[in-house]
Amino acid sequence: MKKFYITTPVYYVNDVPHIGHTYTTVAADVLARWHRELGDETFFLTGTDEHGAKIETKAGEMKIDPKAYADGISAKFLEAWQKLNISNDNFIRTTDEQHVKAVQTALQFMHDKGDIYLGKYEGLYCRGCEQYKSDRDLVDGLCPDHKVAPEKMSEECYSFRLSKYQDQLLELIKKDKLKILPANRKNEVVSFIEKEGLEDVSFSRKNIKWGIPIPWDKSHTVYVWADAFLNYLTGLGWDPSAGSPRPELGTKAGQAALKFWPPTVQLMSKDILRVHATIWQAMLLSLGLPTSETIFVHGYFQINGQKMGKSLGNVIAPDDLIKKYGVDASRYLIMSAAVFGHDGDISFEKFDEKYNADLANGLGNLTARVSNLIEKNNLEFNLKAGSDEKLVENFSKSMQAFQFDEALKILWLVLRAGDEVLSDKKPWKLEDKKAIEKILKPIAQNILDVAVLLKPFMPEVSEKIVAQFSAKQIKKGESLFPRI
Ligand code: MSP
Repeated sequence: MKKFYITTPVYYVNDVPHIGHTYTTVAADVLARWHRELGDETFFLTGTDEHGAKIETKAGEMKIDPKAYADGISAKFLEAWQKLNISNDNFIRTTDEQHVKAVQTALQFMHDKGDIYLGKYEGLYCRGCEQYKSDRDLVDGLCPDHKVAPEKMSEECYSFRLSKYQDQLLELIKKDKLKILPANRKNEVVSFIEKEGLEDVSFSRKNIKWGIPIPWDKSHTVYVWADAFLNYLTGLGWDPSAGSPRPELGTKAGQAALKFWPPTVQLMSKDILRVHATIWQAMLLSLGLPTSETIFVHGYFQINGQKMGKSLGNVIAPDDLIKKYGVDASRYLIMSAAVFGHDGDISFEKFDEKYNADLANGLGNLTARVSNLIEKNNLEFNLKAGSDEKLVENFSKSMQAFQFDEALKILWLVLRAGDEVLSDKKPWKLEDKKAIEKILKPIAQNILDVAVLLKPFMPEVSEKIVAQFSAKQIKKGESLFPRI
């Protein structure tokens, strides 16, 4: 049996879930569900990133204890994903006790090995990114992502020998042993490493209290990214009682937890690609673990041409979508909003239009008309799904290539063809039952085939249509998508 391990980033709890987080999470869910359908042994991990300067500041502003603050926001992420029918196998929090212990064990291992050493960091730090910055990273002296001047920092720290792994990383990436997709993203990373080179990176903070204590020097806390990356291991249940971060050296329990290792696909957007392709993979090399198989980078959503942000008041929350369109329609609208891997511009106007065109008038109307005509004419079909091998093949190709919007388009072409046949042949005007059957049966078969393939995207709607159209006597069902 093939295994499929997929991850989303662990999201910062400085903010409640919005449509950007939702995009990554729904895409990961679609992939996880699709691989389960294919029969792959699948593990899907998501969660929250709760330590570090940014969260410490935010909780400080709100005058609450950082853990109590993180509990509240983390619960909102969990709730949002449950509402959206996200099928994650675990929800990891970086404040989980098991995670904290495992991070300490992993860092101790890297320290003992000589990959972490006492040094000093003098330079810039962007709290928004939680990243050390060089002048080259700034635009007009500001962090281009957060539009603030980074803080000047000078403190003793424990540094990770990232430079030691530079050549090995380049080789892995160039030879696609670590696939970075789409291809332009791979080129970006390769040219960054070749041009700028990898410098050692500070892995501890002396002035940040809200973090995991460095096990051999409790006056430091672990750099939040080093802590966060390890979620991909601890989220599988890797626990320090395994004795070592290396599965072959650990206990049976440790090995069992790592049976899914390494990640088949790590989904994220471009903002955090560089750190995932460098620091994270180098940590794995240091730990003696296989590196990730694929990093897939999707685009950024903008709202009406503008960056989404609280100051602009244009943030779309998953709840706003669910309330307006329902769960499955929201999942469809998000996944079809942009070419996966490219930026997309979204708005409620566009969502309304797409909802009416593709769902109310498209899928919803076609299934209603066809099932109604079948019931009225007392036809019996007994359809079995999967008759159209070409369709399955085309759809699967797009899914395999992470072209989710394309996969959906392929299905909608079939639905549109059904619509055209109906308008053309007007079976409701005919009397002859055989003639009516000849028109309706292939359309009903197409609807069933499409509904089966739709399952990863719209699990509940798919199940309803499949049940309806594989029944001996197809009956008109409830309206699936009321017009907006
Ligand atoms: N905590 C870190 C990740 C640590 S992973 C070891 C972090 N968190 S985040 O909350 O800022 O999430 C960033 C991710 O959220 C992006 O990479 C992307 O997956 C998703 N998105 C956030 N805003 C987005 C858009 N506007 N558009 C699309 N996706 C975006 O970084």
